Amino acid sequence: MENYLVNGKVKLSGNVKISGSKNAAVAILPAVVLTSETVALENLPDINDVRTMTKILETLGVSIRRRGRNTIELTPGNLAKIAPSYELVKKMRASYYFMGSLLARYGRAEVPIPGGCDLGPRPIDQHLKGFSALGAEINIEQGMIKLSANKLVGAHIYLDVVSIGATINLMLAASAAEGRTVLENVAKEPEIVDLANFLNAMGSSIKGAGTDVIRIDGIKKFSGVRHTVIPDRIEAGTFMLAAAATKGNVSVEDVIPKHLEAITAKLRETGVKVIVEPEKIKIEVVKPLLPSDLKTFPYPGFPTDLQPPGMVLLTAADGLSVVTENVFDGRYNQVDELKRMGARIKVEGRTALVEGGSSLQGAPINAPDLRSGAALIIAAMMADGESRVSGIEHIDRGYENFEQKLVGLGASIKRVNHINSGQMPGNPE
Ligand code: EPZ
Repeated sequence: MENYLVNGKVKLSGNVKISGSKNAAVAILPAVVLTSETVALENLPDINDVRTMTKILETLGVSIRRRGRNTIELTPGNLAKIAPSYELVKKMRASYYFMGSLLARYGRAEVPIPGGCDLGPRPIDQHLKGFSALGAEINIEQGMIKLSANKLVGAHIYLDVVSIGATINLMLAASAAEGRTVLENVAKEPEIVDLANFLNAMGSSIKGAGTDVIRIDGIKKFSGVRHTVIPDRIEAGTFMLAAAATKGNVSVEDVIPKHLEAITAKLRETGVKVIVEPEKIKIEVVKPLLPSDLKTFPYPGFPTDLQPPGMVLLTAADGLSVVTENVFDGRYNQVDELKRMGARIKVEGRTALVEGGSSLQGAPINAPDLRSGAALIIAAMMADGESRVSGIEHIDRGYENFEQKLVGLGASIKRVNHINSGQMPGNPE
């Protein structure tokens, strides 16, 4: 397995270009099967989750042509397979979006029950409740979810929980249902809006995406389309928080500032200078960081995916901060590793008390998942000394060119195999 070797005490500085949104891409790719015409997708991030998703599409019979690092053309033609490859689907949770898109295209779908995840329990009861409201029959057998519907009929569905996944899956299924579907208490994330724009460009009639009520009038024929995926607000926020945590001076570019308002507000609360321009945000630390309370909520609240990097920033603030994770039960995988680096953090249920002012020490650490992995890399760049970070295959799933972008900002980070010691590039600051 590969590791990162990271030298600490680095102040990130310079410009970094943000890639396309992973979470928009993994929702739009399954939607491609709704048409038999050619779809061109631009600004796709070149990450493992997108590679896995495109491989799943190929196992379904979609022909794919790469037109550049971040552009592909996909032609579904007349697919017939309704069960994507088990080995590939098990690799990523978002492949459960094929339930909605294959149900819409063929009236049938078979996907494995999504595995548990390191973010705590991740039920899909809201997805299944919506599918049955639309007329689908659901059988769960041999670890598979088997859905079938002679006809999908529009329904009025009220989600008990604000769920991005359920919102996306039900938009996909309802887009081909007969008549009108109204989805209430839905997620409002920009990725939902991007999917709605993609489906509308294919001929759908979806209104209200980005609000908590979405109205969908089902259609029969979806056309091919060219679509550019929105920038990744979570990648952008990760770099904004990394710049502040390392007391650097960084401009994140090719972003939509509106999608980052919660992060901008939180950084300003800690005393960081944030300059917002039409497609870029500049971060500069001009004085000691202040403690701040950080609470995660569905969009437009502070995103749960940036809670781990946000917590790392708060370890550098002068004073006590309180972090409250309201979206997932116990999403604090990064805490034990941070404590091994000298952070003073106490977790009580959904709340973590972060005592700032502690200077972190480099250590051998393990990335438990994608976002806590990115957070630990930030901690390693702040720490005194060298850190060896294992588990970086998680990071490869969701951050395009992560180490290259960090090196471009002055970080001292190198990918090594776990067996060799690997000398650091250049001289640590
Ligand atoms: C999406 O996961 C994202 N993944 C996650 O990002 C993100 O952390 C999460 O939304 C929350 O923002 C993708 O977009 C691919 P949810 P999802 O359904 O859709 C509960 C990353 O790092 N719930 O919005 O699975 C659930 O348990 C990943 O990019 C139900 O109870 O999240 C959770 O507590 C990690 N029943 C809450 O809702 C359901 O049927 C929000 O989950 C569905 C969800």
